[in-house]
Amino acid sequence: MKILGIETSCDETGAAIVKDGTKILSNIVASSQKIHIKTGGVIPERAAREQIKSIIPVLEESLAQAEIDYQDIDALAVTYGPGLIGSLLVGVETAKTLAYVWQKPIIPVNHLLAHVYANWITNSKPQLKSQNLLEFPLIALIVSGGHTELIYMTDHGKYEWLGGTRDDAAGEAFDKIARLLNLGYPGGPAIATAAATTHNTKNLTLNTKLPRPMIDSDDYDFSFSGLKTAVLRETQHLKLNTLEKSVKSSVLSALAFETQEAITDVLVRKTLKAAAEKNVKNILLAGGVAANSRLREKFQSQIPNSQFPYPYRLFVPPPSLCTDNAAAVASCAYFNNSPSPWNKVSVQPGLELSSEI
Ligand code: KG4
Ligand code: ZN
Repeated sequence: MKILGIETSCDETGAAIVKDGTKILSNIVASSQKIHIKTGGVIPERAAREQIKSIIPVLEESLAQAEIDYQDIDALAVTYGPGLIGSLLVGVETAKTLAYVWQKPIIPVNHLLAHVYANWITNSKPQLKSQNLLEFPLIALIVSGGHTELIYMTDHGKYEWLGGTRDDAAGEAFDKIARLLNLGYPGGPAIATAAATTHNTKNLTLNTKLPRPMIDSDDYDFSFSGLKTAVLRETQHLKLNTLEKSVKSSVLSALAFETQEAITDVLVRKTLKAAAEKNVKNILLAGGVAANSRLREKFQSQIPNSQFPYPYRLFVPPPSLCTDNAAAVASCAYFNNSPSPWNKVSVQPGLELSSEI
């Protein structure tokens, strides 16, 4: 079964053709990120305008690269929320029009679940005999620019929402702190790069041990907005803007390093707690922040492959499938196949994950 996926929830325009939920025939992404670098964040109207410009060329390219004609497509899949309303509208209305004109079924997809299914694209069929498959039950940590969610899945379409952020998402914290430190946009990669630079702050009275908000709380919730305030206080305490250039860049990398440590410590601790309590077989990481190498490293070092006391395995998509893309949308649609009449599909910018199995 070949599904044409469409993703336009934020500043990426994606179209992809995926066979049987797992094999990518094409996966095209156009991003308006460069435009948003100037403003240090996404301006929704600008993002929507760029979606309009990109959607048709991206769709055409996805068919061309897959070397198929629209007649060969079995269904369309489209992100209908959560996301920016203007951006979502472009993808949803395009998909509806194509479904009507081409007489194909259309499957609306929750963007957050789509992120999780990026894991099925590369891990559902073993390339080697020794390779492991994804197995239920599992815990999925979804960490993106707007969301931080932990879900417990017992099957396709069957999941329980365990918790999420009470304020800023993990990606949002990276983005806001990067803006505060003038490191650039998007903040996650900018902070990761600055954190990797060696820093020598021996001669400064740094107080860079940032808080790990809610790390030991008795639930699966998160809170990251306090980190931004803590970093702001630190920059004031150090009189950052008065420092000599090389000292300042050293301090910036120390702050970036500590920010990354604080965020990843909390994400790893809470996810491992959920995995142990639910006695799962697998842990899946998903969303843009899952592209973070330090986060992957920490999980990998704390889950020694299937050994006691952690009998579960970790799955992480390649970085290009962690960030927004349409291949994950098509995969999600395949495994949760629930077509809808085209005229019943509408955008839901505030769509959430359900809390019951
Ligand atoms: O999933 P995504 O591409 O879009 C949303 O659905 O939001 O996630 C974007 C977020 C941004 O906040 C960005 O800073 C973060 O993912 N991100 C990263 C990395 N790459 C992207 N955060 C940490 N480390 C990275 N390498
Ligand atoms: Zn996303």
